[in-house]
Amino acid sequence: MKNLDDLLSEGVRGRRVLVRADLNVPLDGEKITDDGRVRASLPTVRKLTEAGARVVLTAHLGRPKGEPDPKFSLAPVARRLGELLGTDVLLAGDLVGDSAKSVVAGLTDGSVALLENVRFDARETSKDDAERGALADELAALVGPDAAFVSDGFGVVHRKQASVYDVAKRLPAYAGGLVLAEVEVLRTLTGDPKRPYAVVLGGSKVSDKLGVIKALLPKVDKLLIGGGMAYTFLAAQGHGVGSSLLQEDQIESTKQLLAEHGDKLVLPVDVVVADRFAADADKQVVAADAIPDGWMGLDIGPRSVEEFAGILRESATVFWNGPAGVFEFPAFADGTRGIAQAIVDSDSFSVVGGGDSAAAVRTLGLPEDGFSHISTGGGASLEYLEGKDLPGVAVLEGER
Ligand code: 3PG
Repeated sequence: MKNLDDLLSEGVRGRRVLVRADLNVPLDGEKITDDGRVRASLPTVRKLTEAGARVVLTAHLGRPKGEPDPKFSLAPVARRLGELLGTDVLLAGDLVGDSAKSVVAGLTDGSVALLENVRFDARETSKDDAERGALADELAALVGPDAAFVSDGFGVVHRKQASVYDVAKRLPAYAGGLVLAEVEVLRTLTGDPKRPYAVVLGGSKVSDKLGVIKALLPKVDKLLIGGGMAYTFLAAQGHGVGSSLLQEDQIESTKQLLAEHGDKLVLPVDVVVADRFAADADKQVVAADAIPDGWMGLDIGPRSVEEFAGILRESATVFWNGPAGVFEFPAFADGTRGIAQAIVDSDSFSVVGGGDSAAAVRTLGLPEDGFSHISTGGGASLEYLEGKDLPGVAVLEGER
């Protein structure tokens, strides 16, 4: 696939370049609580502006319902981008309407504009090819005949959406540096990773991770399970889980996984339970097979952390996706912190996949450079590891 360097060597001075970035950041009101994705988008934008391109960024924020909704405006992102780039980033008031047209027309060489949330237009996420195609036509027309498209939103390449997939068929398309780097790292994990290879999966639902668990089990040496989904595994082993998160409809498939791959799957041996879902809940540490009725597991316990950490420290390759507990509540963050610290302490090639785990690294104040790679894509990296086609990458690899 053609990449950003190819585009730069063709020359971009004075040309409009539409860049799809993943700027989907967590917000608390108007405050960005983790700007990792904004920072990850900078190298590509900088390379383009330094070469004199007129950069038109397009991105989504959250999941608005296909119409403008101020709650999901990209305004805070435009401000943060401007601060980080040290230049004004003009935010168009719409996506392909009059405001976008006038902002794009006013761009000078080396300047940057951001279009308003691409998901304010229902055609972006439509299942109908013609509807998506119509929006992609308008995006291509917005940037004009001599324009190029750079796909740099790795976190969204698993979505067959107008600004990710269809527009790449309408403009000369290039993979941005972030997409290239992320794909290269994930290839290492699916190719011939150094062994022992351990994967830690957390997060709340087994159903979200079943596909990736099944795809990874034959390839890994150990698969460590934490987070809310651990309770479905414990239930599948016949243990009571109190009022912990439980997906009853997943118990059968989980039992099957345990029967087939019990030697590789590592479950928590103890858990931190709470009397309610609250930061200041009463808590106690109990054995994983002795969760009292009325209590819910919100983190893995200290013995589990020790066991998981031992495996991680011995591993040559580690992939981690999903927190081990409700790390947003400090009282239930020790499991996630313990896992992250063990990875930092190991000499492994380590990849952190996903919004939540990446956010946990930063929220808990762990050194980002303690990991070989922190992916910006949660769903995208899991789908890649699951062996699924990523439409946003496939379209760059295929012919237009
Ligand atoms: C993400 O947050 O994983 C990406 O930005 C994709 O968002 P989506 O799951 O809403 O498509």
